Amino acid sequence: MKYIIAVIQPDRLDEVLQLLEDKEVHLVTVTSVMGRGRQKGIAEVYRSHKEAGSLLKKTKLEIAVNDEFVSVAVDAIMSGGRTGNVGDGKIFVLDLDRCIRIRTGETGHVAIG
Ligand SMILES: Nc1ncnc2c1ncn2[C@@H]1O[C@H](COP(=O)(O)OP(=O)(O)OP(=O)(O)O)[C@@H](O)[C@H]1O
Ligand SMILES: [Mg+2]
Repeated sequence: MKYIIAVIQPDRLDEVLQLLEDKEVHLVTVTSVMGRGRQKGIAEVYRSHKEAGSLLKKTKLEIAVNDEFVSVAVDAIMSGGRTGNVGDGKIFVLDLDRCIRIRTGETGHVAIG
């Protein structure tokens, strides 16, 4: 199991979610966040409202998936998120040790999806 964390431009969220759904990836956590990349917020001001401390508004997606869904999920985020401009975002893929559905107590591969 893997835990995918992606930081994308807020205006790409709808497209990314649609592409994920198209690939049967439905379960997702979405959070509004602030962040900065290697331009430290400076070169991107034309795209996003600039906040204090060189931070820009971004959208974070978190998706826990079985191994066979990693590629399609990453591809969907890449396709929907990429404009070619700085600030398009980043994807992190982490190993996931445990997943437990609180309602049923199911674990692992069953609980994840
Ligand atoms: N190494 C990192 N650690 C934590 N968060 C990061 C990291 N890199 C990027 N982010 C998050 O992703 C957001 C978008 O990053 P961004 O796309 O600007 O990365 P970049 O490395 O500057 O690439 P680019 O040159 O394409 O802009 C940042 O505002 C930040 O929230
Ligand atoms: Mg950047």
